[in-house]
Amino acid sequence: MDRLILKKEQAEELIRKYGSPLYVYEEEVLRERCREVRTLLALKTYHPQYSAKANSNIELLKIIREEGLDVDAMSPGEVVQERAAGFEADQIMYCSGNMSEAEMRYAHDHAGILILDSLSQADRYGTLFLGSEMGIRVNPGIGAGHDAKVITGGKTKFGVLSEDLKEISEILQKHSLKLIALHEHVGSLFLDDTVFLEAAEILLKLAQQFPDVRILDFGGGLGVPYNGEERLDLNRLGRRLTDLIASSEQKSGRTYEIRIEPGRYIVAESSMLLGTVTDIKESAGVKYLGTDIGFNVLLRPVLYHAHHRIHGYSDSEEQETYTVCGNLCESGDILAEGEQLPCMRIGDLIGIENAGAYGFSMSSDYNGRLRPAEVLLSDGTDRLIRKRESMEDLVNQI
Ligand code: LLP
Repeated sequence: MDRLILKKEQAEELIRKYGSPLYVYEEEVLRERCREVRTLLALKTYHPQYSAKANSNIELLKIIREEGLDVDAMSPGEVVQERAAGFEADQIMYCSGNMSEAEMRYAHDHAGILILDSLSQADRYGTLFLGSEMGIRVNPGIGAGHDAKVITGGKTKFGVLSEDLKEISEILQKHSLKLIALHEHVGSLFLDDTVFLEAAEILLKLAQQFPDVRILDFGGGLGVPYNGEERLDLNRLGRRLTDLIASSEQKSGRTYEIRIEPGRYIVAESSMLLGTVTDIKESAGVKYLGTDIGFNVLLRPVLYHAHHRIHGYSDSEEQETYTVCGNLCESGDILAEGEQLPCMRIGDLIGIENAGAYGFSMSSDYNGRLRPAEVLLSDGTDRLIRKRESMEDLVNQI
């Protein structure tokens, strides 16, 4: 299955049973994506890891663990979620942009290797944990991604630029630290692998300056098509990356443990978000389709102008153009403009494709709207994997 697309009757049955709005996941698609990533490189030293920020539902994490992937974490909270899903500490690579001392201590005690994002972090880490092994996040100077907000290579807050990396030697020496890993991440959602591979080459070259480095992590960012674009050619990416690694290993006589850390690619297409039409109204010539999917439920369209395909579950044969909006008290709470859908009535359902990545994980209870429930479909059965937030949750503050 390419991606989860629910039929009208299925959607109606699920909403009757679990309420609206609802994130629905398909186990088969999730497992298939894990296997694609698991077999991307035919190298014995290859350890892909899932980037849990895309979706950290514990039941989904358990499936991802069963499929043989490790994980990354970028906060103590993610470590807790991953440990709850059964990941061992040494299966968790910890990589966070800014780290307090408390956070460093937590990650040191509960996760595997720490990737430090700056020279100052490395220096503070060395003061706390003299003689430890650690990794550095490199900024390769080039980036890729679907929006400026998610491009992380180049002029961004992330990583150590290669020209500044020479200063690390002094810090390593001062604290007897051992630099065993180099990490990079160019950004999120590319369908063309050019920048990712260029950055991989940069990292492979840099590794030659550091004799103790034995782990190379090329990051995530592998995209999925949201609007019918051509799919990322995973086989070609796998072949090219294998070639780059092989030729560098041959030249240097060293072998590396190789890691990548996709989030979106693993979970995006396994899910559809279902919602209900709660109002239809016209203002200044625009027909608004009001739904219960505000940006507290799905933030991506508002934050990045991202477009997710929308299905209108209606019996009508007629088409209509709508501006699909949420129920929050902000005029920017728009899911899509100029959307062609079948004529909808109040009470009809809509379904939003590719909702599995950065959907629930970026949800909130803004405006006192409850975070939705999540349901997993497996072999034709459905089960609740996160209960809907309740009114009690809203008032239980202390
Ligand atoms: N590794 C690091 C260090 C990252 O910062 C990220 C994503 C990933 C891996 C996984 O990237 P992925 O394979 O999922 O593209 N909320 C945005 C995406 C933000 C990505 C943040 N970092 C969105 O909805 O498009």
